[in-house]
Amino acid sequence: MAAFEHLRSKVRIGPLELENRIAMAGMGVEVCEDDGFVGDRMIAYYEERAKGGVGLVITEVGAVAYPKGATTAHQIGLSHDKYIPGLAKLAEAVHRHGAKVAAQLVHHGKVSRLDTIQGREVLMPSLPEFHGAMDMMQDLTPDEIGLLMKAFGGAAPRIRPASQQDIDWLIDQFASAAVRVERAGFDGVELHAAHGYILSEFLSPAWNRRDDEYGGSRENRARLLQQVIRACKERTGDDFAVWCRIDAEEFRTPGGTTLEDARVTARLAQEAGADALNISAYADATSGGAFTEAPLVHKPAGYVDNARAIKQCVEIPIIAVGRIEPEVGDALIRDGGADIIAMARKLLADPHIARKILDGRSEDVRPCVYCYTCVEQPFFDRRVKCAVNPVVANEWELRDAETSQAAARKRVVIVGGGPAGQEAARVAALRGHEVTLLEKASQLGGTLRFASLVYEPNERLLRWLARQVEQAGVDVRLETEATPELVRSLSPDVLLLALGARRAAPEIPGVDQGHVFDGDDLRSLLTGEGDEVARGKLSLTARVAVRAGRAARVTSDPSKLRQASKAWMPVGRQVCVIGGGLVGCELAEFLAERGRQVTVLEEGATLAKEMALPRRWRVLEDLRRAGVTLVTNAQISEVGKKSVFFTTDGDEREVQAETVIIATGLLANDAQAARFEGLAERVEVIGDCSGVSYIEGAIHDGFHAALRVERS
Ligand SMILES: Cc1cc2nc3c(=O)[nH]c(=O)nc-3n(C[C@H](O)[C@H](O)[C@H](O)COP(=O)(O)O)c2cc1C
Repeated sequence: MAAFEHLRSKVRIGPLELENRIAMAGMGVEVCEDDGFVGDRMIAYYEERAKGGVGLVITEVGAVAYPKGATTAHQIGLSHDKYIPGLAKLAEAVHRHGAKVAAQLVHHGKVSRLDTIQGREVLMPSLPEFHGAMDMMQDLTPDEIGLLMKAFGGAAPRIRPASQQDIDWLIDQFASAAVRVERAGFDGVELHAAHGYILSEFLSPAWNRRDDEYGGSRENRARLLQQVIRACKERTGDDFAVWCRIDAEEFRTPGGTTLEDARVTARLAQEAGADALNISAYADATSGGAFTEAPLVHKPAGYVDNARAIKQCVEIPIIAVGRIEPEVGDALIRDGGADIIAMARKLLADPHIARKILDGRSEDVRPCVYCYTCVEQPFFDRRVKCAVNPVVANEWELRDAETSQAAARKRVVIVGGGPAGQEAARVAALRGHEVTLLEKASQLGGTLRFASLVYEPNERLLRWLARQVEQAGVDVRLETEATPELVRSLSPDVLLLALGARRAAPEIPGVDQGHVFDGDDLRSLLTGEGDEVARGKLSLTARVAVRAGRAARVTSDPSKLRQASKAWMPVGRQVCVIGGGLVGCELAEFLAERGRQVTVLEEGATLAKEMALPRRWRVLEDLRRAGVTLVTNAQISEVGKKSVFFTTDGDEREVQAETVIIATGLLANDAQAARFEGLAERVEVIGDCSGVSYIEGAIHDGFHAALRVERS
């Protein structure tokens, strides 16, 4: 029996037949031209996902009353016939690959940023009583606060409770947009009745405080949605599907939507003629940590129980979403918990995920590392990007870049097998170059190995890169120290230096003591990449344990090591991490999960500022919940035998620490790179070696360096 037999089976949404049960979930990616027009860039972006084998493409939030009720000038406009030609090209491009396409229809209600920016009132069911936790600003840099304020129009929204006239207008806007979409050749629409936008505000007891026939009971609150569904159905043809996305729950919102509310809404939507239901969730958008609870759930398969619960009370198909792995999705369909699996982030990371898994090539799927780089961009009203897929939003220019053969085959030597070196090797080899990759350690991965240890999703990228490099036919030489002589002997046309960052020891009295480790020490202890100095700092028992781990090959496997480190690690009970950037905070999380009492001392005013926003909020919330002490503006005066002395905001303080970990001082590695100058016609420094920029910087640098190879 073929794998994923349920995902690969056909399914109907009302009049539509889908070739398989994998759908692309709506994603506002800001790839649109200004003023709501669909252009070539956007068409190429969607076409790539259709080509990648999904059965259904659901396009992003399209504003039914654009620019009214829109959140950005870069989203699809559906309020006028002038938008139809662009939409028609998009539909045609998706259809070329056998997928169906539906447009997501929205009025953003309280989140209509464009209304505030352009001086209009913001429509809501009623004046809100709950104003949110409003804590999202607390972990931002001043620059980010500026960007966010700008994106939100720099002013508080002026809210207008919807009159009957507004309601009639809304119904007409939705239905007229559906008609336009149908005329453009789309197969259906998904009405956005989730995520705090206007239809969901009417559904939610927290936001809807009306006392007329649109407020109060569940039936009244669902009246607008029902009227919109009916109007869309009446004004479109029988072969056009109409369904809606609803929230099964509204988190962190006093009196917000409950699962029981959602079950009633689901039945009422079905009664009004909805052809399917897409089950999502929402959480107080003013609270940073809430965002990774909903709608971008961080917990794997976080909403499948809700999909299951709603499926039990309706007959129409259920679309489940929320970090669903293909195996989990297939089983969910098999068990009758859902009918279609929608994916969002995974389809940014790999637009061809559907085809790959259905063709039995799951291991070739480029994994999403749940770093939230993608969604941070629209927060700031910027075009989406993906840390692991540099082609995202650049499909128009780059969709074939990876596979098109270079005009001239060049000899490429890459020094350093971290993510930048591997990505460069992978792409250069795919383009037909002769590639040699030199790595001094016994395994590929570089800093990504350590990053995989502390954050599990990174491990998938680690494995993916290694596999792709191998498959692309790269000549990988492990345990090979690259010297200028060796490089010269390989006579490269192009030399790419991906040496990783340099670590500068901080000038703090006491950092040379035995209980103080820096990132390199820790890396060599935990990952088995030898450094005698680090091992020298361990007690005899600890040394024996590390040696045993290595003998059992635990230290070379991040997941085994993650597991084993829960039982034992060469780290004391009280740990002080100096440096609260990305590395320090991920490390603190790892240590706290392993029962350590952790203090993070950060010199600057903002913690984890290298992390994309929603992930930063998530990590910091988790750290605070785990009882980790987070100190900003900390000036370290000395590392003592059992404690660290520091001042913050004028106070002199001391924190107990049996182990101190230095997580600061990552710098570009130009001095090392200088050794290799002039050894090839073209020498480039990439990844952390050229300026510390973590996974995103490494992958993007590696990718683009590979595209530049033939220019030498
Ligand atoms: C960049 C980005 C933009 C999104 N924009 C939308 C949107 O326009 N409409 C919507 O309903 N959901 C939007 N979402 C939420 C996704 O549709 C989806 O529900 C969520 O990401 C969880 O699915 P996943 O775990 O497969 O990513 C967006 C998600 C991402 C990552």
